[in-house]
Amino acid sequence: MRVLVIGGGGREHALCWALQKSARVSELFCAPGNAGIATIATCVPVEQTSVLDMLRVVHQVAPELVVIGPEVPLGVGIVDALNGEGVRVFGPTQAAARLESSKSFAKSFMQRHGIATAQYQVCSSVEEVAAALPAFAMPVVVKADGLAAGKGVVIAETGAEAEQAAAELLALGGTLVLEKFLEGEELSFFALCDGNTAVPIAAAQDHKRLLDGDRGPNTGGMGAYSTDELLPNSLRQALLREVAQRAVDGMREEGTPFRGILFCGMMLTARGPMVLEFNTRWGDPETEAILVRMETDLLDLVEASINGTAGDLAVRMRPGASACVIAASAGYPAAPRKGDVISGLEQPLPEATVIFHAGTAATPTDVVTAGGRVLAVTAAAATLDDALFRAYQVLDRVHFEGMQFRRDIGFRALTKR
Ligand code: AMP
Ligand code: GLY
Repeated sequence: MRVLVIGGGGREHALCWALQKSARVSELFCAPGNAGIATIATCVPVEQTSVLDMLRVVHQVAPELVVIGPEVPLGVGIVDALNGEGVRVFGPTQAAARLESSKSFAKSFMQRHGIATAQYQVCSSVEEVAAALPAFAMPVVVKADGLAAGKGVVIAETGAEAEQAAAELLALGGTLVLEKFLEGEELSFFALCDGNTAVPIAAAQDHKRLLDGDRGPNTGGMGAYSTDELLPNSLRQALLREVAQRAVDGMREEGTPFRGILFCGMMLTARGPMVLEFNTRWGDPETEAILVRMETDLLDLVEASINGTAGDLAVRMRPGASACVIAASAGYPAAPRKGDVISGLEQPLPEATVIFHAGTAATPTDVVTAGGRVLAVTAAAATLDDALFRAYQVLDRVHFEGMQFRRDIGFRALTKR
């Protein structure tokens, strides 16, 4: 089968890596891809904010299946456009992707369908925020309604801070959501959905802050791990029944069936799991950690979602653990520097260890940094310690000027024992 993946980050390198292992994938294309993806797929430049440009690439490549990685193409409606042309595509329609692209839609949807989430209020002016604040304890969470590439959430310690954050977020356009601050441990839970049924895939934990000990600014994610212990059977059942399947039922009832990956961003609170956000796609870097563990053929999973047969699929994961450590460029996240030469990419790798590329580009002589998150060094092993050991061993032989990475990926799991 001729398959086209849209996207060009670590997540898409992992998707291409998993698809290329499938015996049924004969030709693999990626748009735009990156220097790492280019070693396993034919890369084609594309503008991911433009449905027209993505259609141009689809016409040029003529794939039998298109897999969408990031949220932006979903938000602009690439799945609807491809469905309209009769092209098989994996991912939710624009209306279904509102679970991610509009936080106010997601919050009211959860309320309508009895999915546990924090108390909230939608506001469209600073005055409304000021009037709503007395109903919230401090700190309070202020969120932009639309897609904001991880930069749309502010945790405000005082009312004045909340109003200032509101003014800044409202200046970007759109409304915002004021939300009760939840305490607990975060968990990313992934389910495969086919419009009717949600099937559990795995859980992972991301590390959003730049620096060790969860300090420093928020980022797209500095590393992730996935273990069996992260998702004991009781939690898996609860998240499946009370969150993912409820969301799939609700979307079907509202006439916008959800197909694709439902990424449930959870806070495990003292009062039970609550949804922080839904994403309508694989996470990055969670995907890298999950796909190195996944034994099920990714193509089977994708086709089950499109064909409406997810209920027949049991997703198998390699027992044990995996870890992914991100190497980010100098200046990330505020002002990532591009063009630094990367060395150490040619080293021999231990079994089940992969250097996924994120923001990289190839020059005639070198591979250079080309974005904020540069590499996602990922390993699977029998234990989390082993997976981390392998990932860091590989990362320690990689170098570029100004490289930033966390030394403490997985610390929550390691300190719990
Ligand atoms: P979101 O994009 O909604 O997942 O928010 C990004 C990050 O902000 C989450 O991963 C949490 O770390 C934090 N966050 C969001 N909502 C809340 C909340 N209600 N309580 C505490 N932390 C939150
Ligand atoms: N790792 C968080 C995300 O992909 O949104």
